[in-house]
Amino acid sequence: MQVHTYKDADEVCNALADWMAALMDKTLQAKEKFVLALSGGETPKKLYKILAASPYNEKIKWDRVHFFWGDERVVPFDDERNNAKMAFDNLLDKVKIPSGNIHRIWTDVEPAVAAAQYEKILHQYFDDKQTTFDLVLLGLGEDGHTLSLFPGSEVLPGKTGWVNAVHSAEKGERITLMPDVVNRSASVAFLVTGESKSAIVEKLFSDQHIGEFPAQLVKPVNNELHWFLDKTASSGLNPEKID
Ligand code: 6PG
Repeated sequence: MQVHTYKDADEVCNALADWMAALMDKTLQAKEKFVLALSGGETPKKLYKILAASPYNEKIKWDRVHFFWGDERVVPFDDERNNAKMAFDNLLDKVKIPSGNIHRIWTDVEPAVAAAQYEKILHQYFDDKQTTFDLVLLGLGEDGHTLSLFPGSEVLPGKTGWVNAVHSAEKGERITLMPDVVNRSASVAFLVTGESKSAIVEKLFSDQHIGEFPAQLVKPVNNELHWFLDKTASSGLNPEKID
């Protein structure tokens, strides 16, 4: 695991964009496709805007990048809360990506149907492979959730299956990747910024809260777990834990 910290959200998103571009370039020297799972919420918007602009809009071989999402809110695609809409608005509508490379989670059918359909595509991509995604981008909630794996969720500890429909009293109907398919990825990167996340980041890294939070279920089998944090989100971390 590697922890990368930067001065502020701008700096961390620029550094993550650079890191992603280098990872894509290296991966695409050996493979035809780069299979990426995007995260939702507010934090990655800045990252997506950076990737959609120069130099990344020309530098990255977008036609060889295949897009999935880590989770989705079960709301219409044109709803501002929809994670796919956010990614299209800030990135996917701004760079040349073949439509067949983009796999949105359906939100206009029964959640269980959408989850099964999404899992079927994942199996088409990964069943004959050693690893699953080349990169999964993740965010972190103040309660220690990631993806749509909320504390106390009925689908945890999530030892089986790759995709589930979940109901959260607070967050509504969601569809989410499960730990197993994420932990078989080549790389996983959390992007966490802001003072409001400093307390949960400190708990996740402390020895006092082992196994307490869903985000701790993210343990890539090859240990390629990266935390991209700004100074405020990492303010509670012991400097020895930071690269
Ligand atoms: C979602 C995300 C979720 C998000 C965290 C952090 O659909 O909301 O997948 O896991 O990453 O809640 O969200 P913010 O970046 O908005 O704080």
